[in-house]
Amino acid sequence: MRKRIIAGNWKMNKTLDEAIDLARAIKDKAADVQNVDMILCPPFTNLSSVVDVVKGTSIGVGAQNLHWEAKGAFTGEISADMLRSVGCQYVIIGHSERRQYFGETDETVNKRIKAALAAGLVPIVCVGETLEEREADKTQEVVETQITGAYRDISSNDAENMVVAYEPVWAIGTGKVATPQQAQEVHAYIRSLLKTVYSEKVAETVRIQYGGSMKPGNAAELLANPDVDGGLIGGASLDADSFLGIINA
Ligand code: PGA
Repeated sequence: MRKRIIAGNWKMNKTLDEAIDLARAIKDKAADVQNVDMILCPPFTNLSSVVDVVKGTSIGVGAQNLHWEAKGAFTGEISADMLRSVGCQYVIIGHSERRQYFGETDETVNKRIKAALAAGLVPIVCVGETLEEREADKTQEVVETQITGAYRDISSNDAENMVVAYEPVWAIGTGKVATPQQAQEVHAYIRSLLKTVYSEKVAETVRIQYGGSMKPGNAAELLANPDVDGGLIGGASLDADSFLGIINA
């Protein structure tokens, strides 16, 4: 049985005080959540403080990006070791907003994954098709390219520990959620790709989150699918009650 994994992607939201308040509210309400891995991914500036707030609980903390180089003249960038040093355990890599607005490619996604793994961070690798690609019947092709690109030269041991987030771009922040059938279909396809590239064991171990307008009201039916192991939550993770509403689903 794969343990459920729900992560809140706060994106570029929350000042320091707001982030501390939200993390405290989530911690207070989540005291008896046990069967779900819960992760908060605030902006870089809030990581250290959010780590302090959740210290001693099972809530994990993740970043939203990292750079693949270890250190040096890369103005504005953050390394894997820096994230580790403030207590991060996870890092989101290749989010569609990074691909769309910041030139992220499958190649740079792969480099970031390798840097994260080398530092002991768990990558949450995002893949997903645009509306245009779905309408052109290219969903599987797009997801296959993204998955094989992301996992290039990654060992089977490392592959097992990574998390995949299937996020159809047309569902992100739009209120237009994938149907449980659409989500299950792509999740099963991703698992079949992992089986082909690695093994049945890797495919059955990797946890695949759904992301894109997941809310307390639609989470249960999405999470009821056999290959949907959790969620990567944007908008609904910015409020403790709605985030916990998804966790409790
Ligand atoms: P959303 O974002 O829940 O606001 O659609 C999901 C994501 O981008 O991770």
